[in-house]
Amino acid sequence: MSELTNRQYYLAARPSGLPTERDVPWRDVPVAEPGEGEVLLRNLYISLDPAIRGWMGDDPNYIEPIAIGDAVRSSVIGRVVKSRSDDVAVGDVVMSVGGWERYTIASAAALSKLDESAGIPLSYFLGVLGPTGLTAYFGLLEVGRPRAGETVLVSAAAGAVGSIVGQIAKMQGCRVVGLAGSDDKCAWLRDELGFDAVINYRSCGDCEAAIRQACPDGVDVYFDNVGGEILEAALACLNKFARVAVCGWISTYNEPDAPGPSARRLWQLVANSVTIQGFVVLDYSERFAEGVAQLAEWVMAGKLKFREEVVSGLDNILPTFHRLFDGSNQGKLVIELPEE
Ligand SMILES: NC(=O)c1ccc[n+]([C@@H]2O[C@H](COP(=O)([O-])OP(=O)(O)OC[C@H]3O[C@@H](n4cnc5c(N)ncnc54)[C@H](OP(=O)(O)O)[C@@H]3O)[C@@H](O)[C@H]2O)c1
Repeated sequence: MSELTNRQYYLAARPSGLPTERDVPWRDVPVAEPGEGEVLLRNLYISLDPAIRGWMGDDPNYIEPIAIGDAVRSSVIGRVVKSRSDDVAVGDVVMSVGGWERYTIASAAALSKLDESAGIPLSYFLGVLGPTGLTAYFGLLEVGRPRAGETVLVSAAAGAVGSIVGQIAKMQGCRVVGLAGSDDKCAWLRDELGFDAVINYRSCGDCEAAIRQACPDGVDVYFDNVGGEILEAALACLNKFARVAVCGWISTYNEPDAPGPSARRLWQLVANSVTIQGFVVLDYSERFAEGVAQLAEWVMAGKLKFREEVVSGLDNILPTFHRLFDGSNQGKLVIELPEE
């Protein structure tokens, strides 16, 4: 047993609604020793993603639920402090599946090594140059399949994924319309990211009417990050042969019974020969290198802007996670655990 102590936030009970401190308490446990083919990571960054809320439940999902008693699962970036693999050295910085914890034991075979010397902020590999950017890139281009001149509507548009989707759609020559939950977010989308029109869905009143007004030629691609009533409204505004890329339904994660599209509204899929397709970024894992290279080129060229909020320390991880659901996050949320 090691002398190091691992602070972990773990799943004690499956939440109903927003996870509480009773569902996700913390504990201090001795750090375990890595087994053959494993490494011990000192985590530097922990990614906070809406999907984690889904893994806390036990509904069928694209990966296994977090087991009761396990640390809450997250993508992490960490420095290798012990290695029992010939492929990974102590001191390497890697990205891995880890948890809401200071130390993670990871299989060396499942790690991606990161190049610290490139001068790119490491947190970007969880965001614009990692799963977030790749979700936007493949979800829009492969599932949404926008063409120049078409109208692309995106929800949670000022969020980590949505803001990248809108900028890539602009680069494809599309008219881009974003839905977001505050005037400040809308102003950022319009004035700094170049969105053609924006809708504050909290203050616009009739969302369907607002979409019709902002999209006078109809919607050809709807990139859906939220589901629920916004999806219902967007479906009413689709053009013939429109595509709906279902990326996530954040409005339902804490309220599985929240109102969503009625069967009557889903008839629009037939009426307009619409393709609706869900996806997870992992569907494109064999093409991640291509996606990261393109995203990096756009970032370096100043064509792709990205906002992240880096919050220091594990202590506030649960209230920080809640911010994804009240909309107070300004871009990609990351927890930083500075090295002493
Ligand atoms: N399919 C995949 O592989 C994949 C991968 C990554 C993420 N995702 C999904 O992509 C979506 C965005 O994730 P992200 O990481 O980029 O988070 P994010 O957009 O940076 O943060 C979440 C945002 O969702 C909005 N929101 C929260 N509750 C809402 C509600 N009830 N109705 C409408 N909007 C609501 C809030 O923005 P407002 O202030 O605008 O309300 C909040 O800031 C999520 O659905 C997530 O599950 C999917």
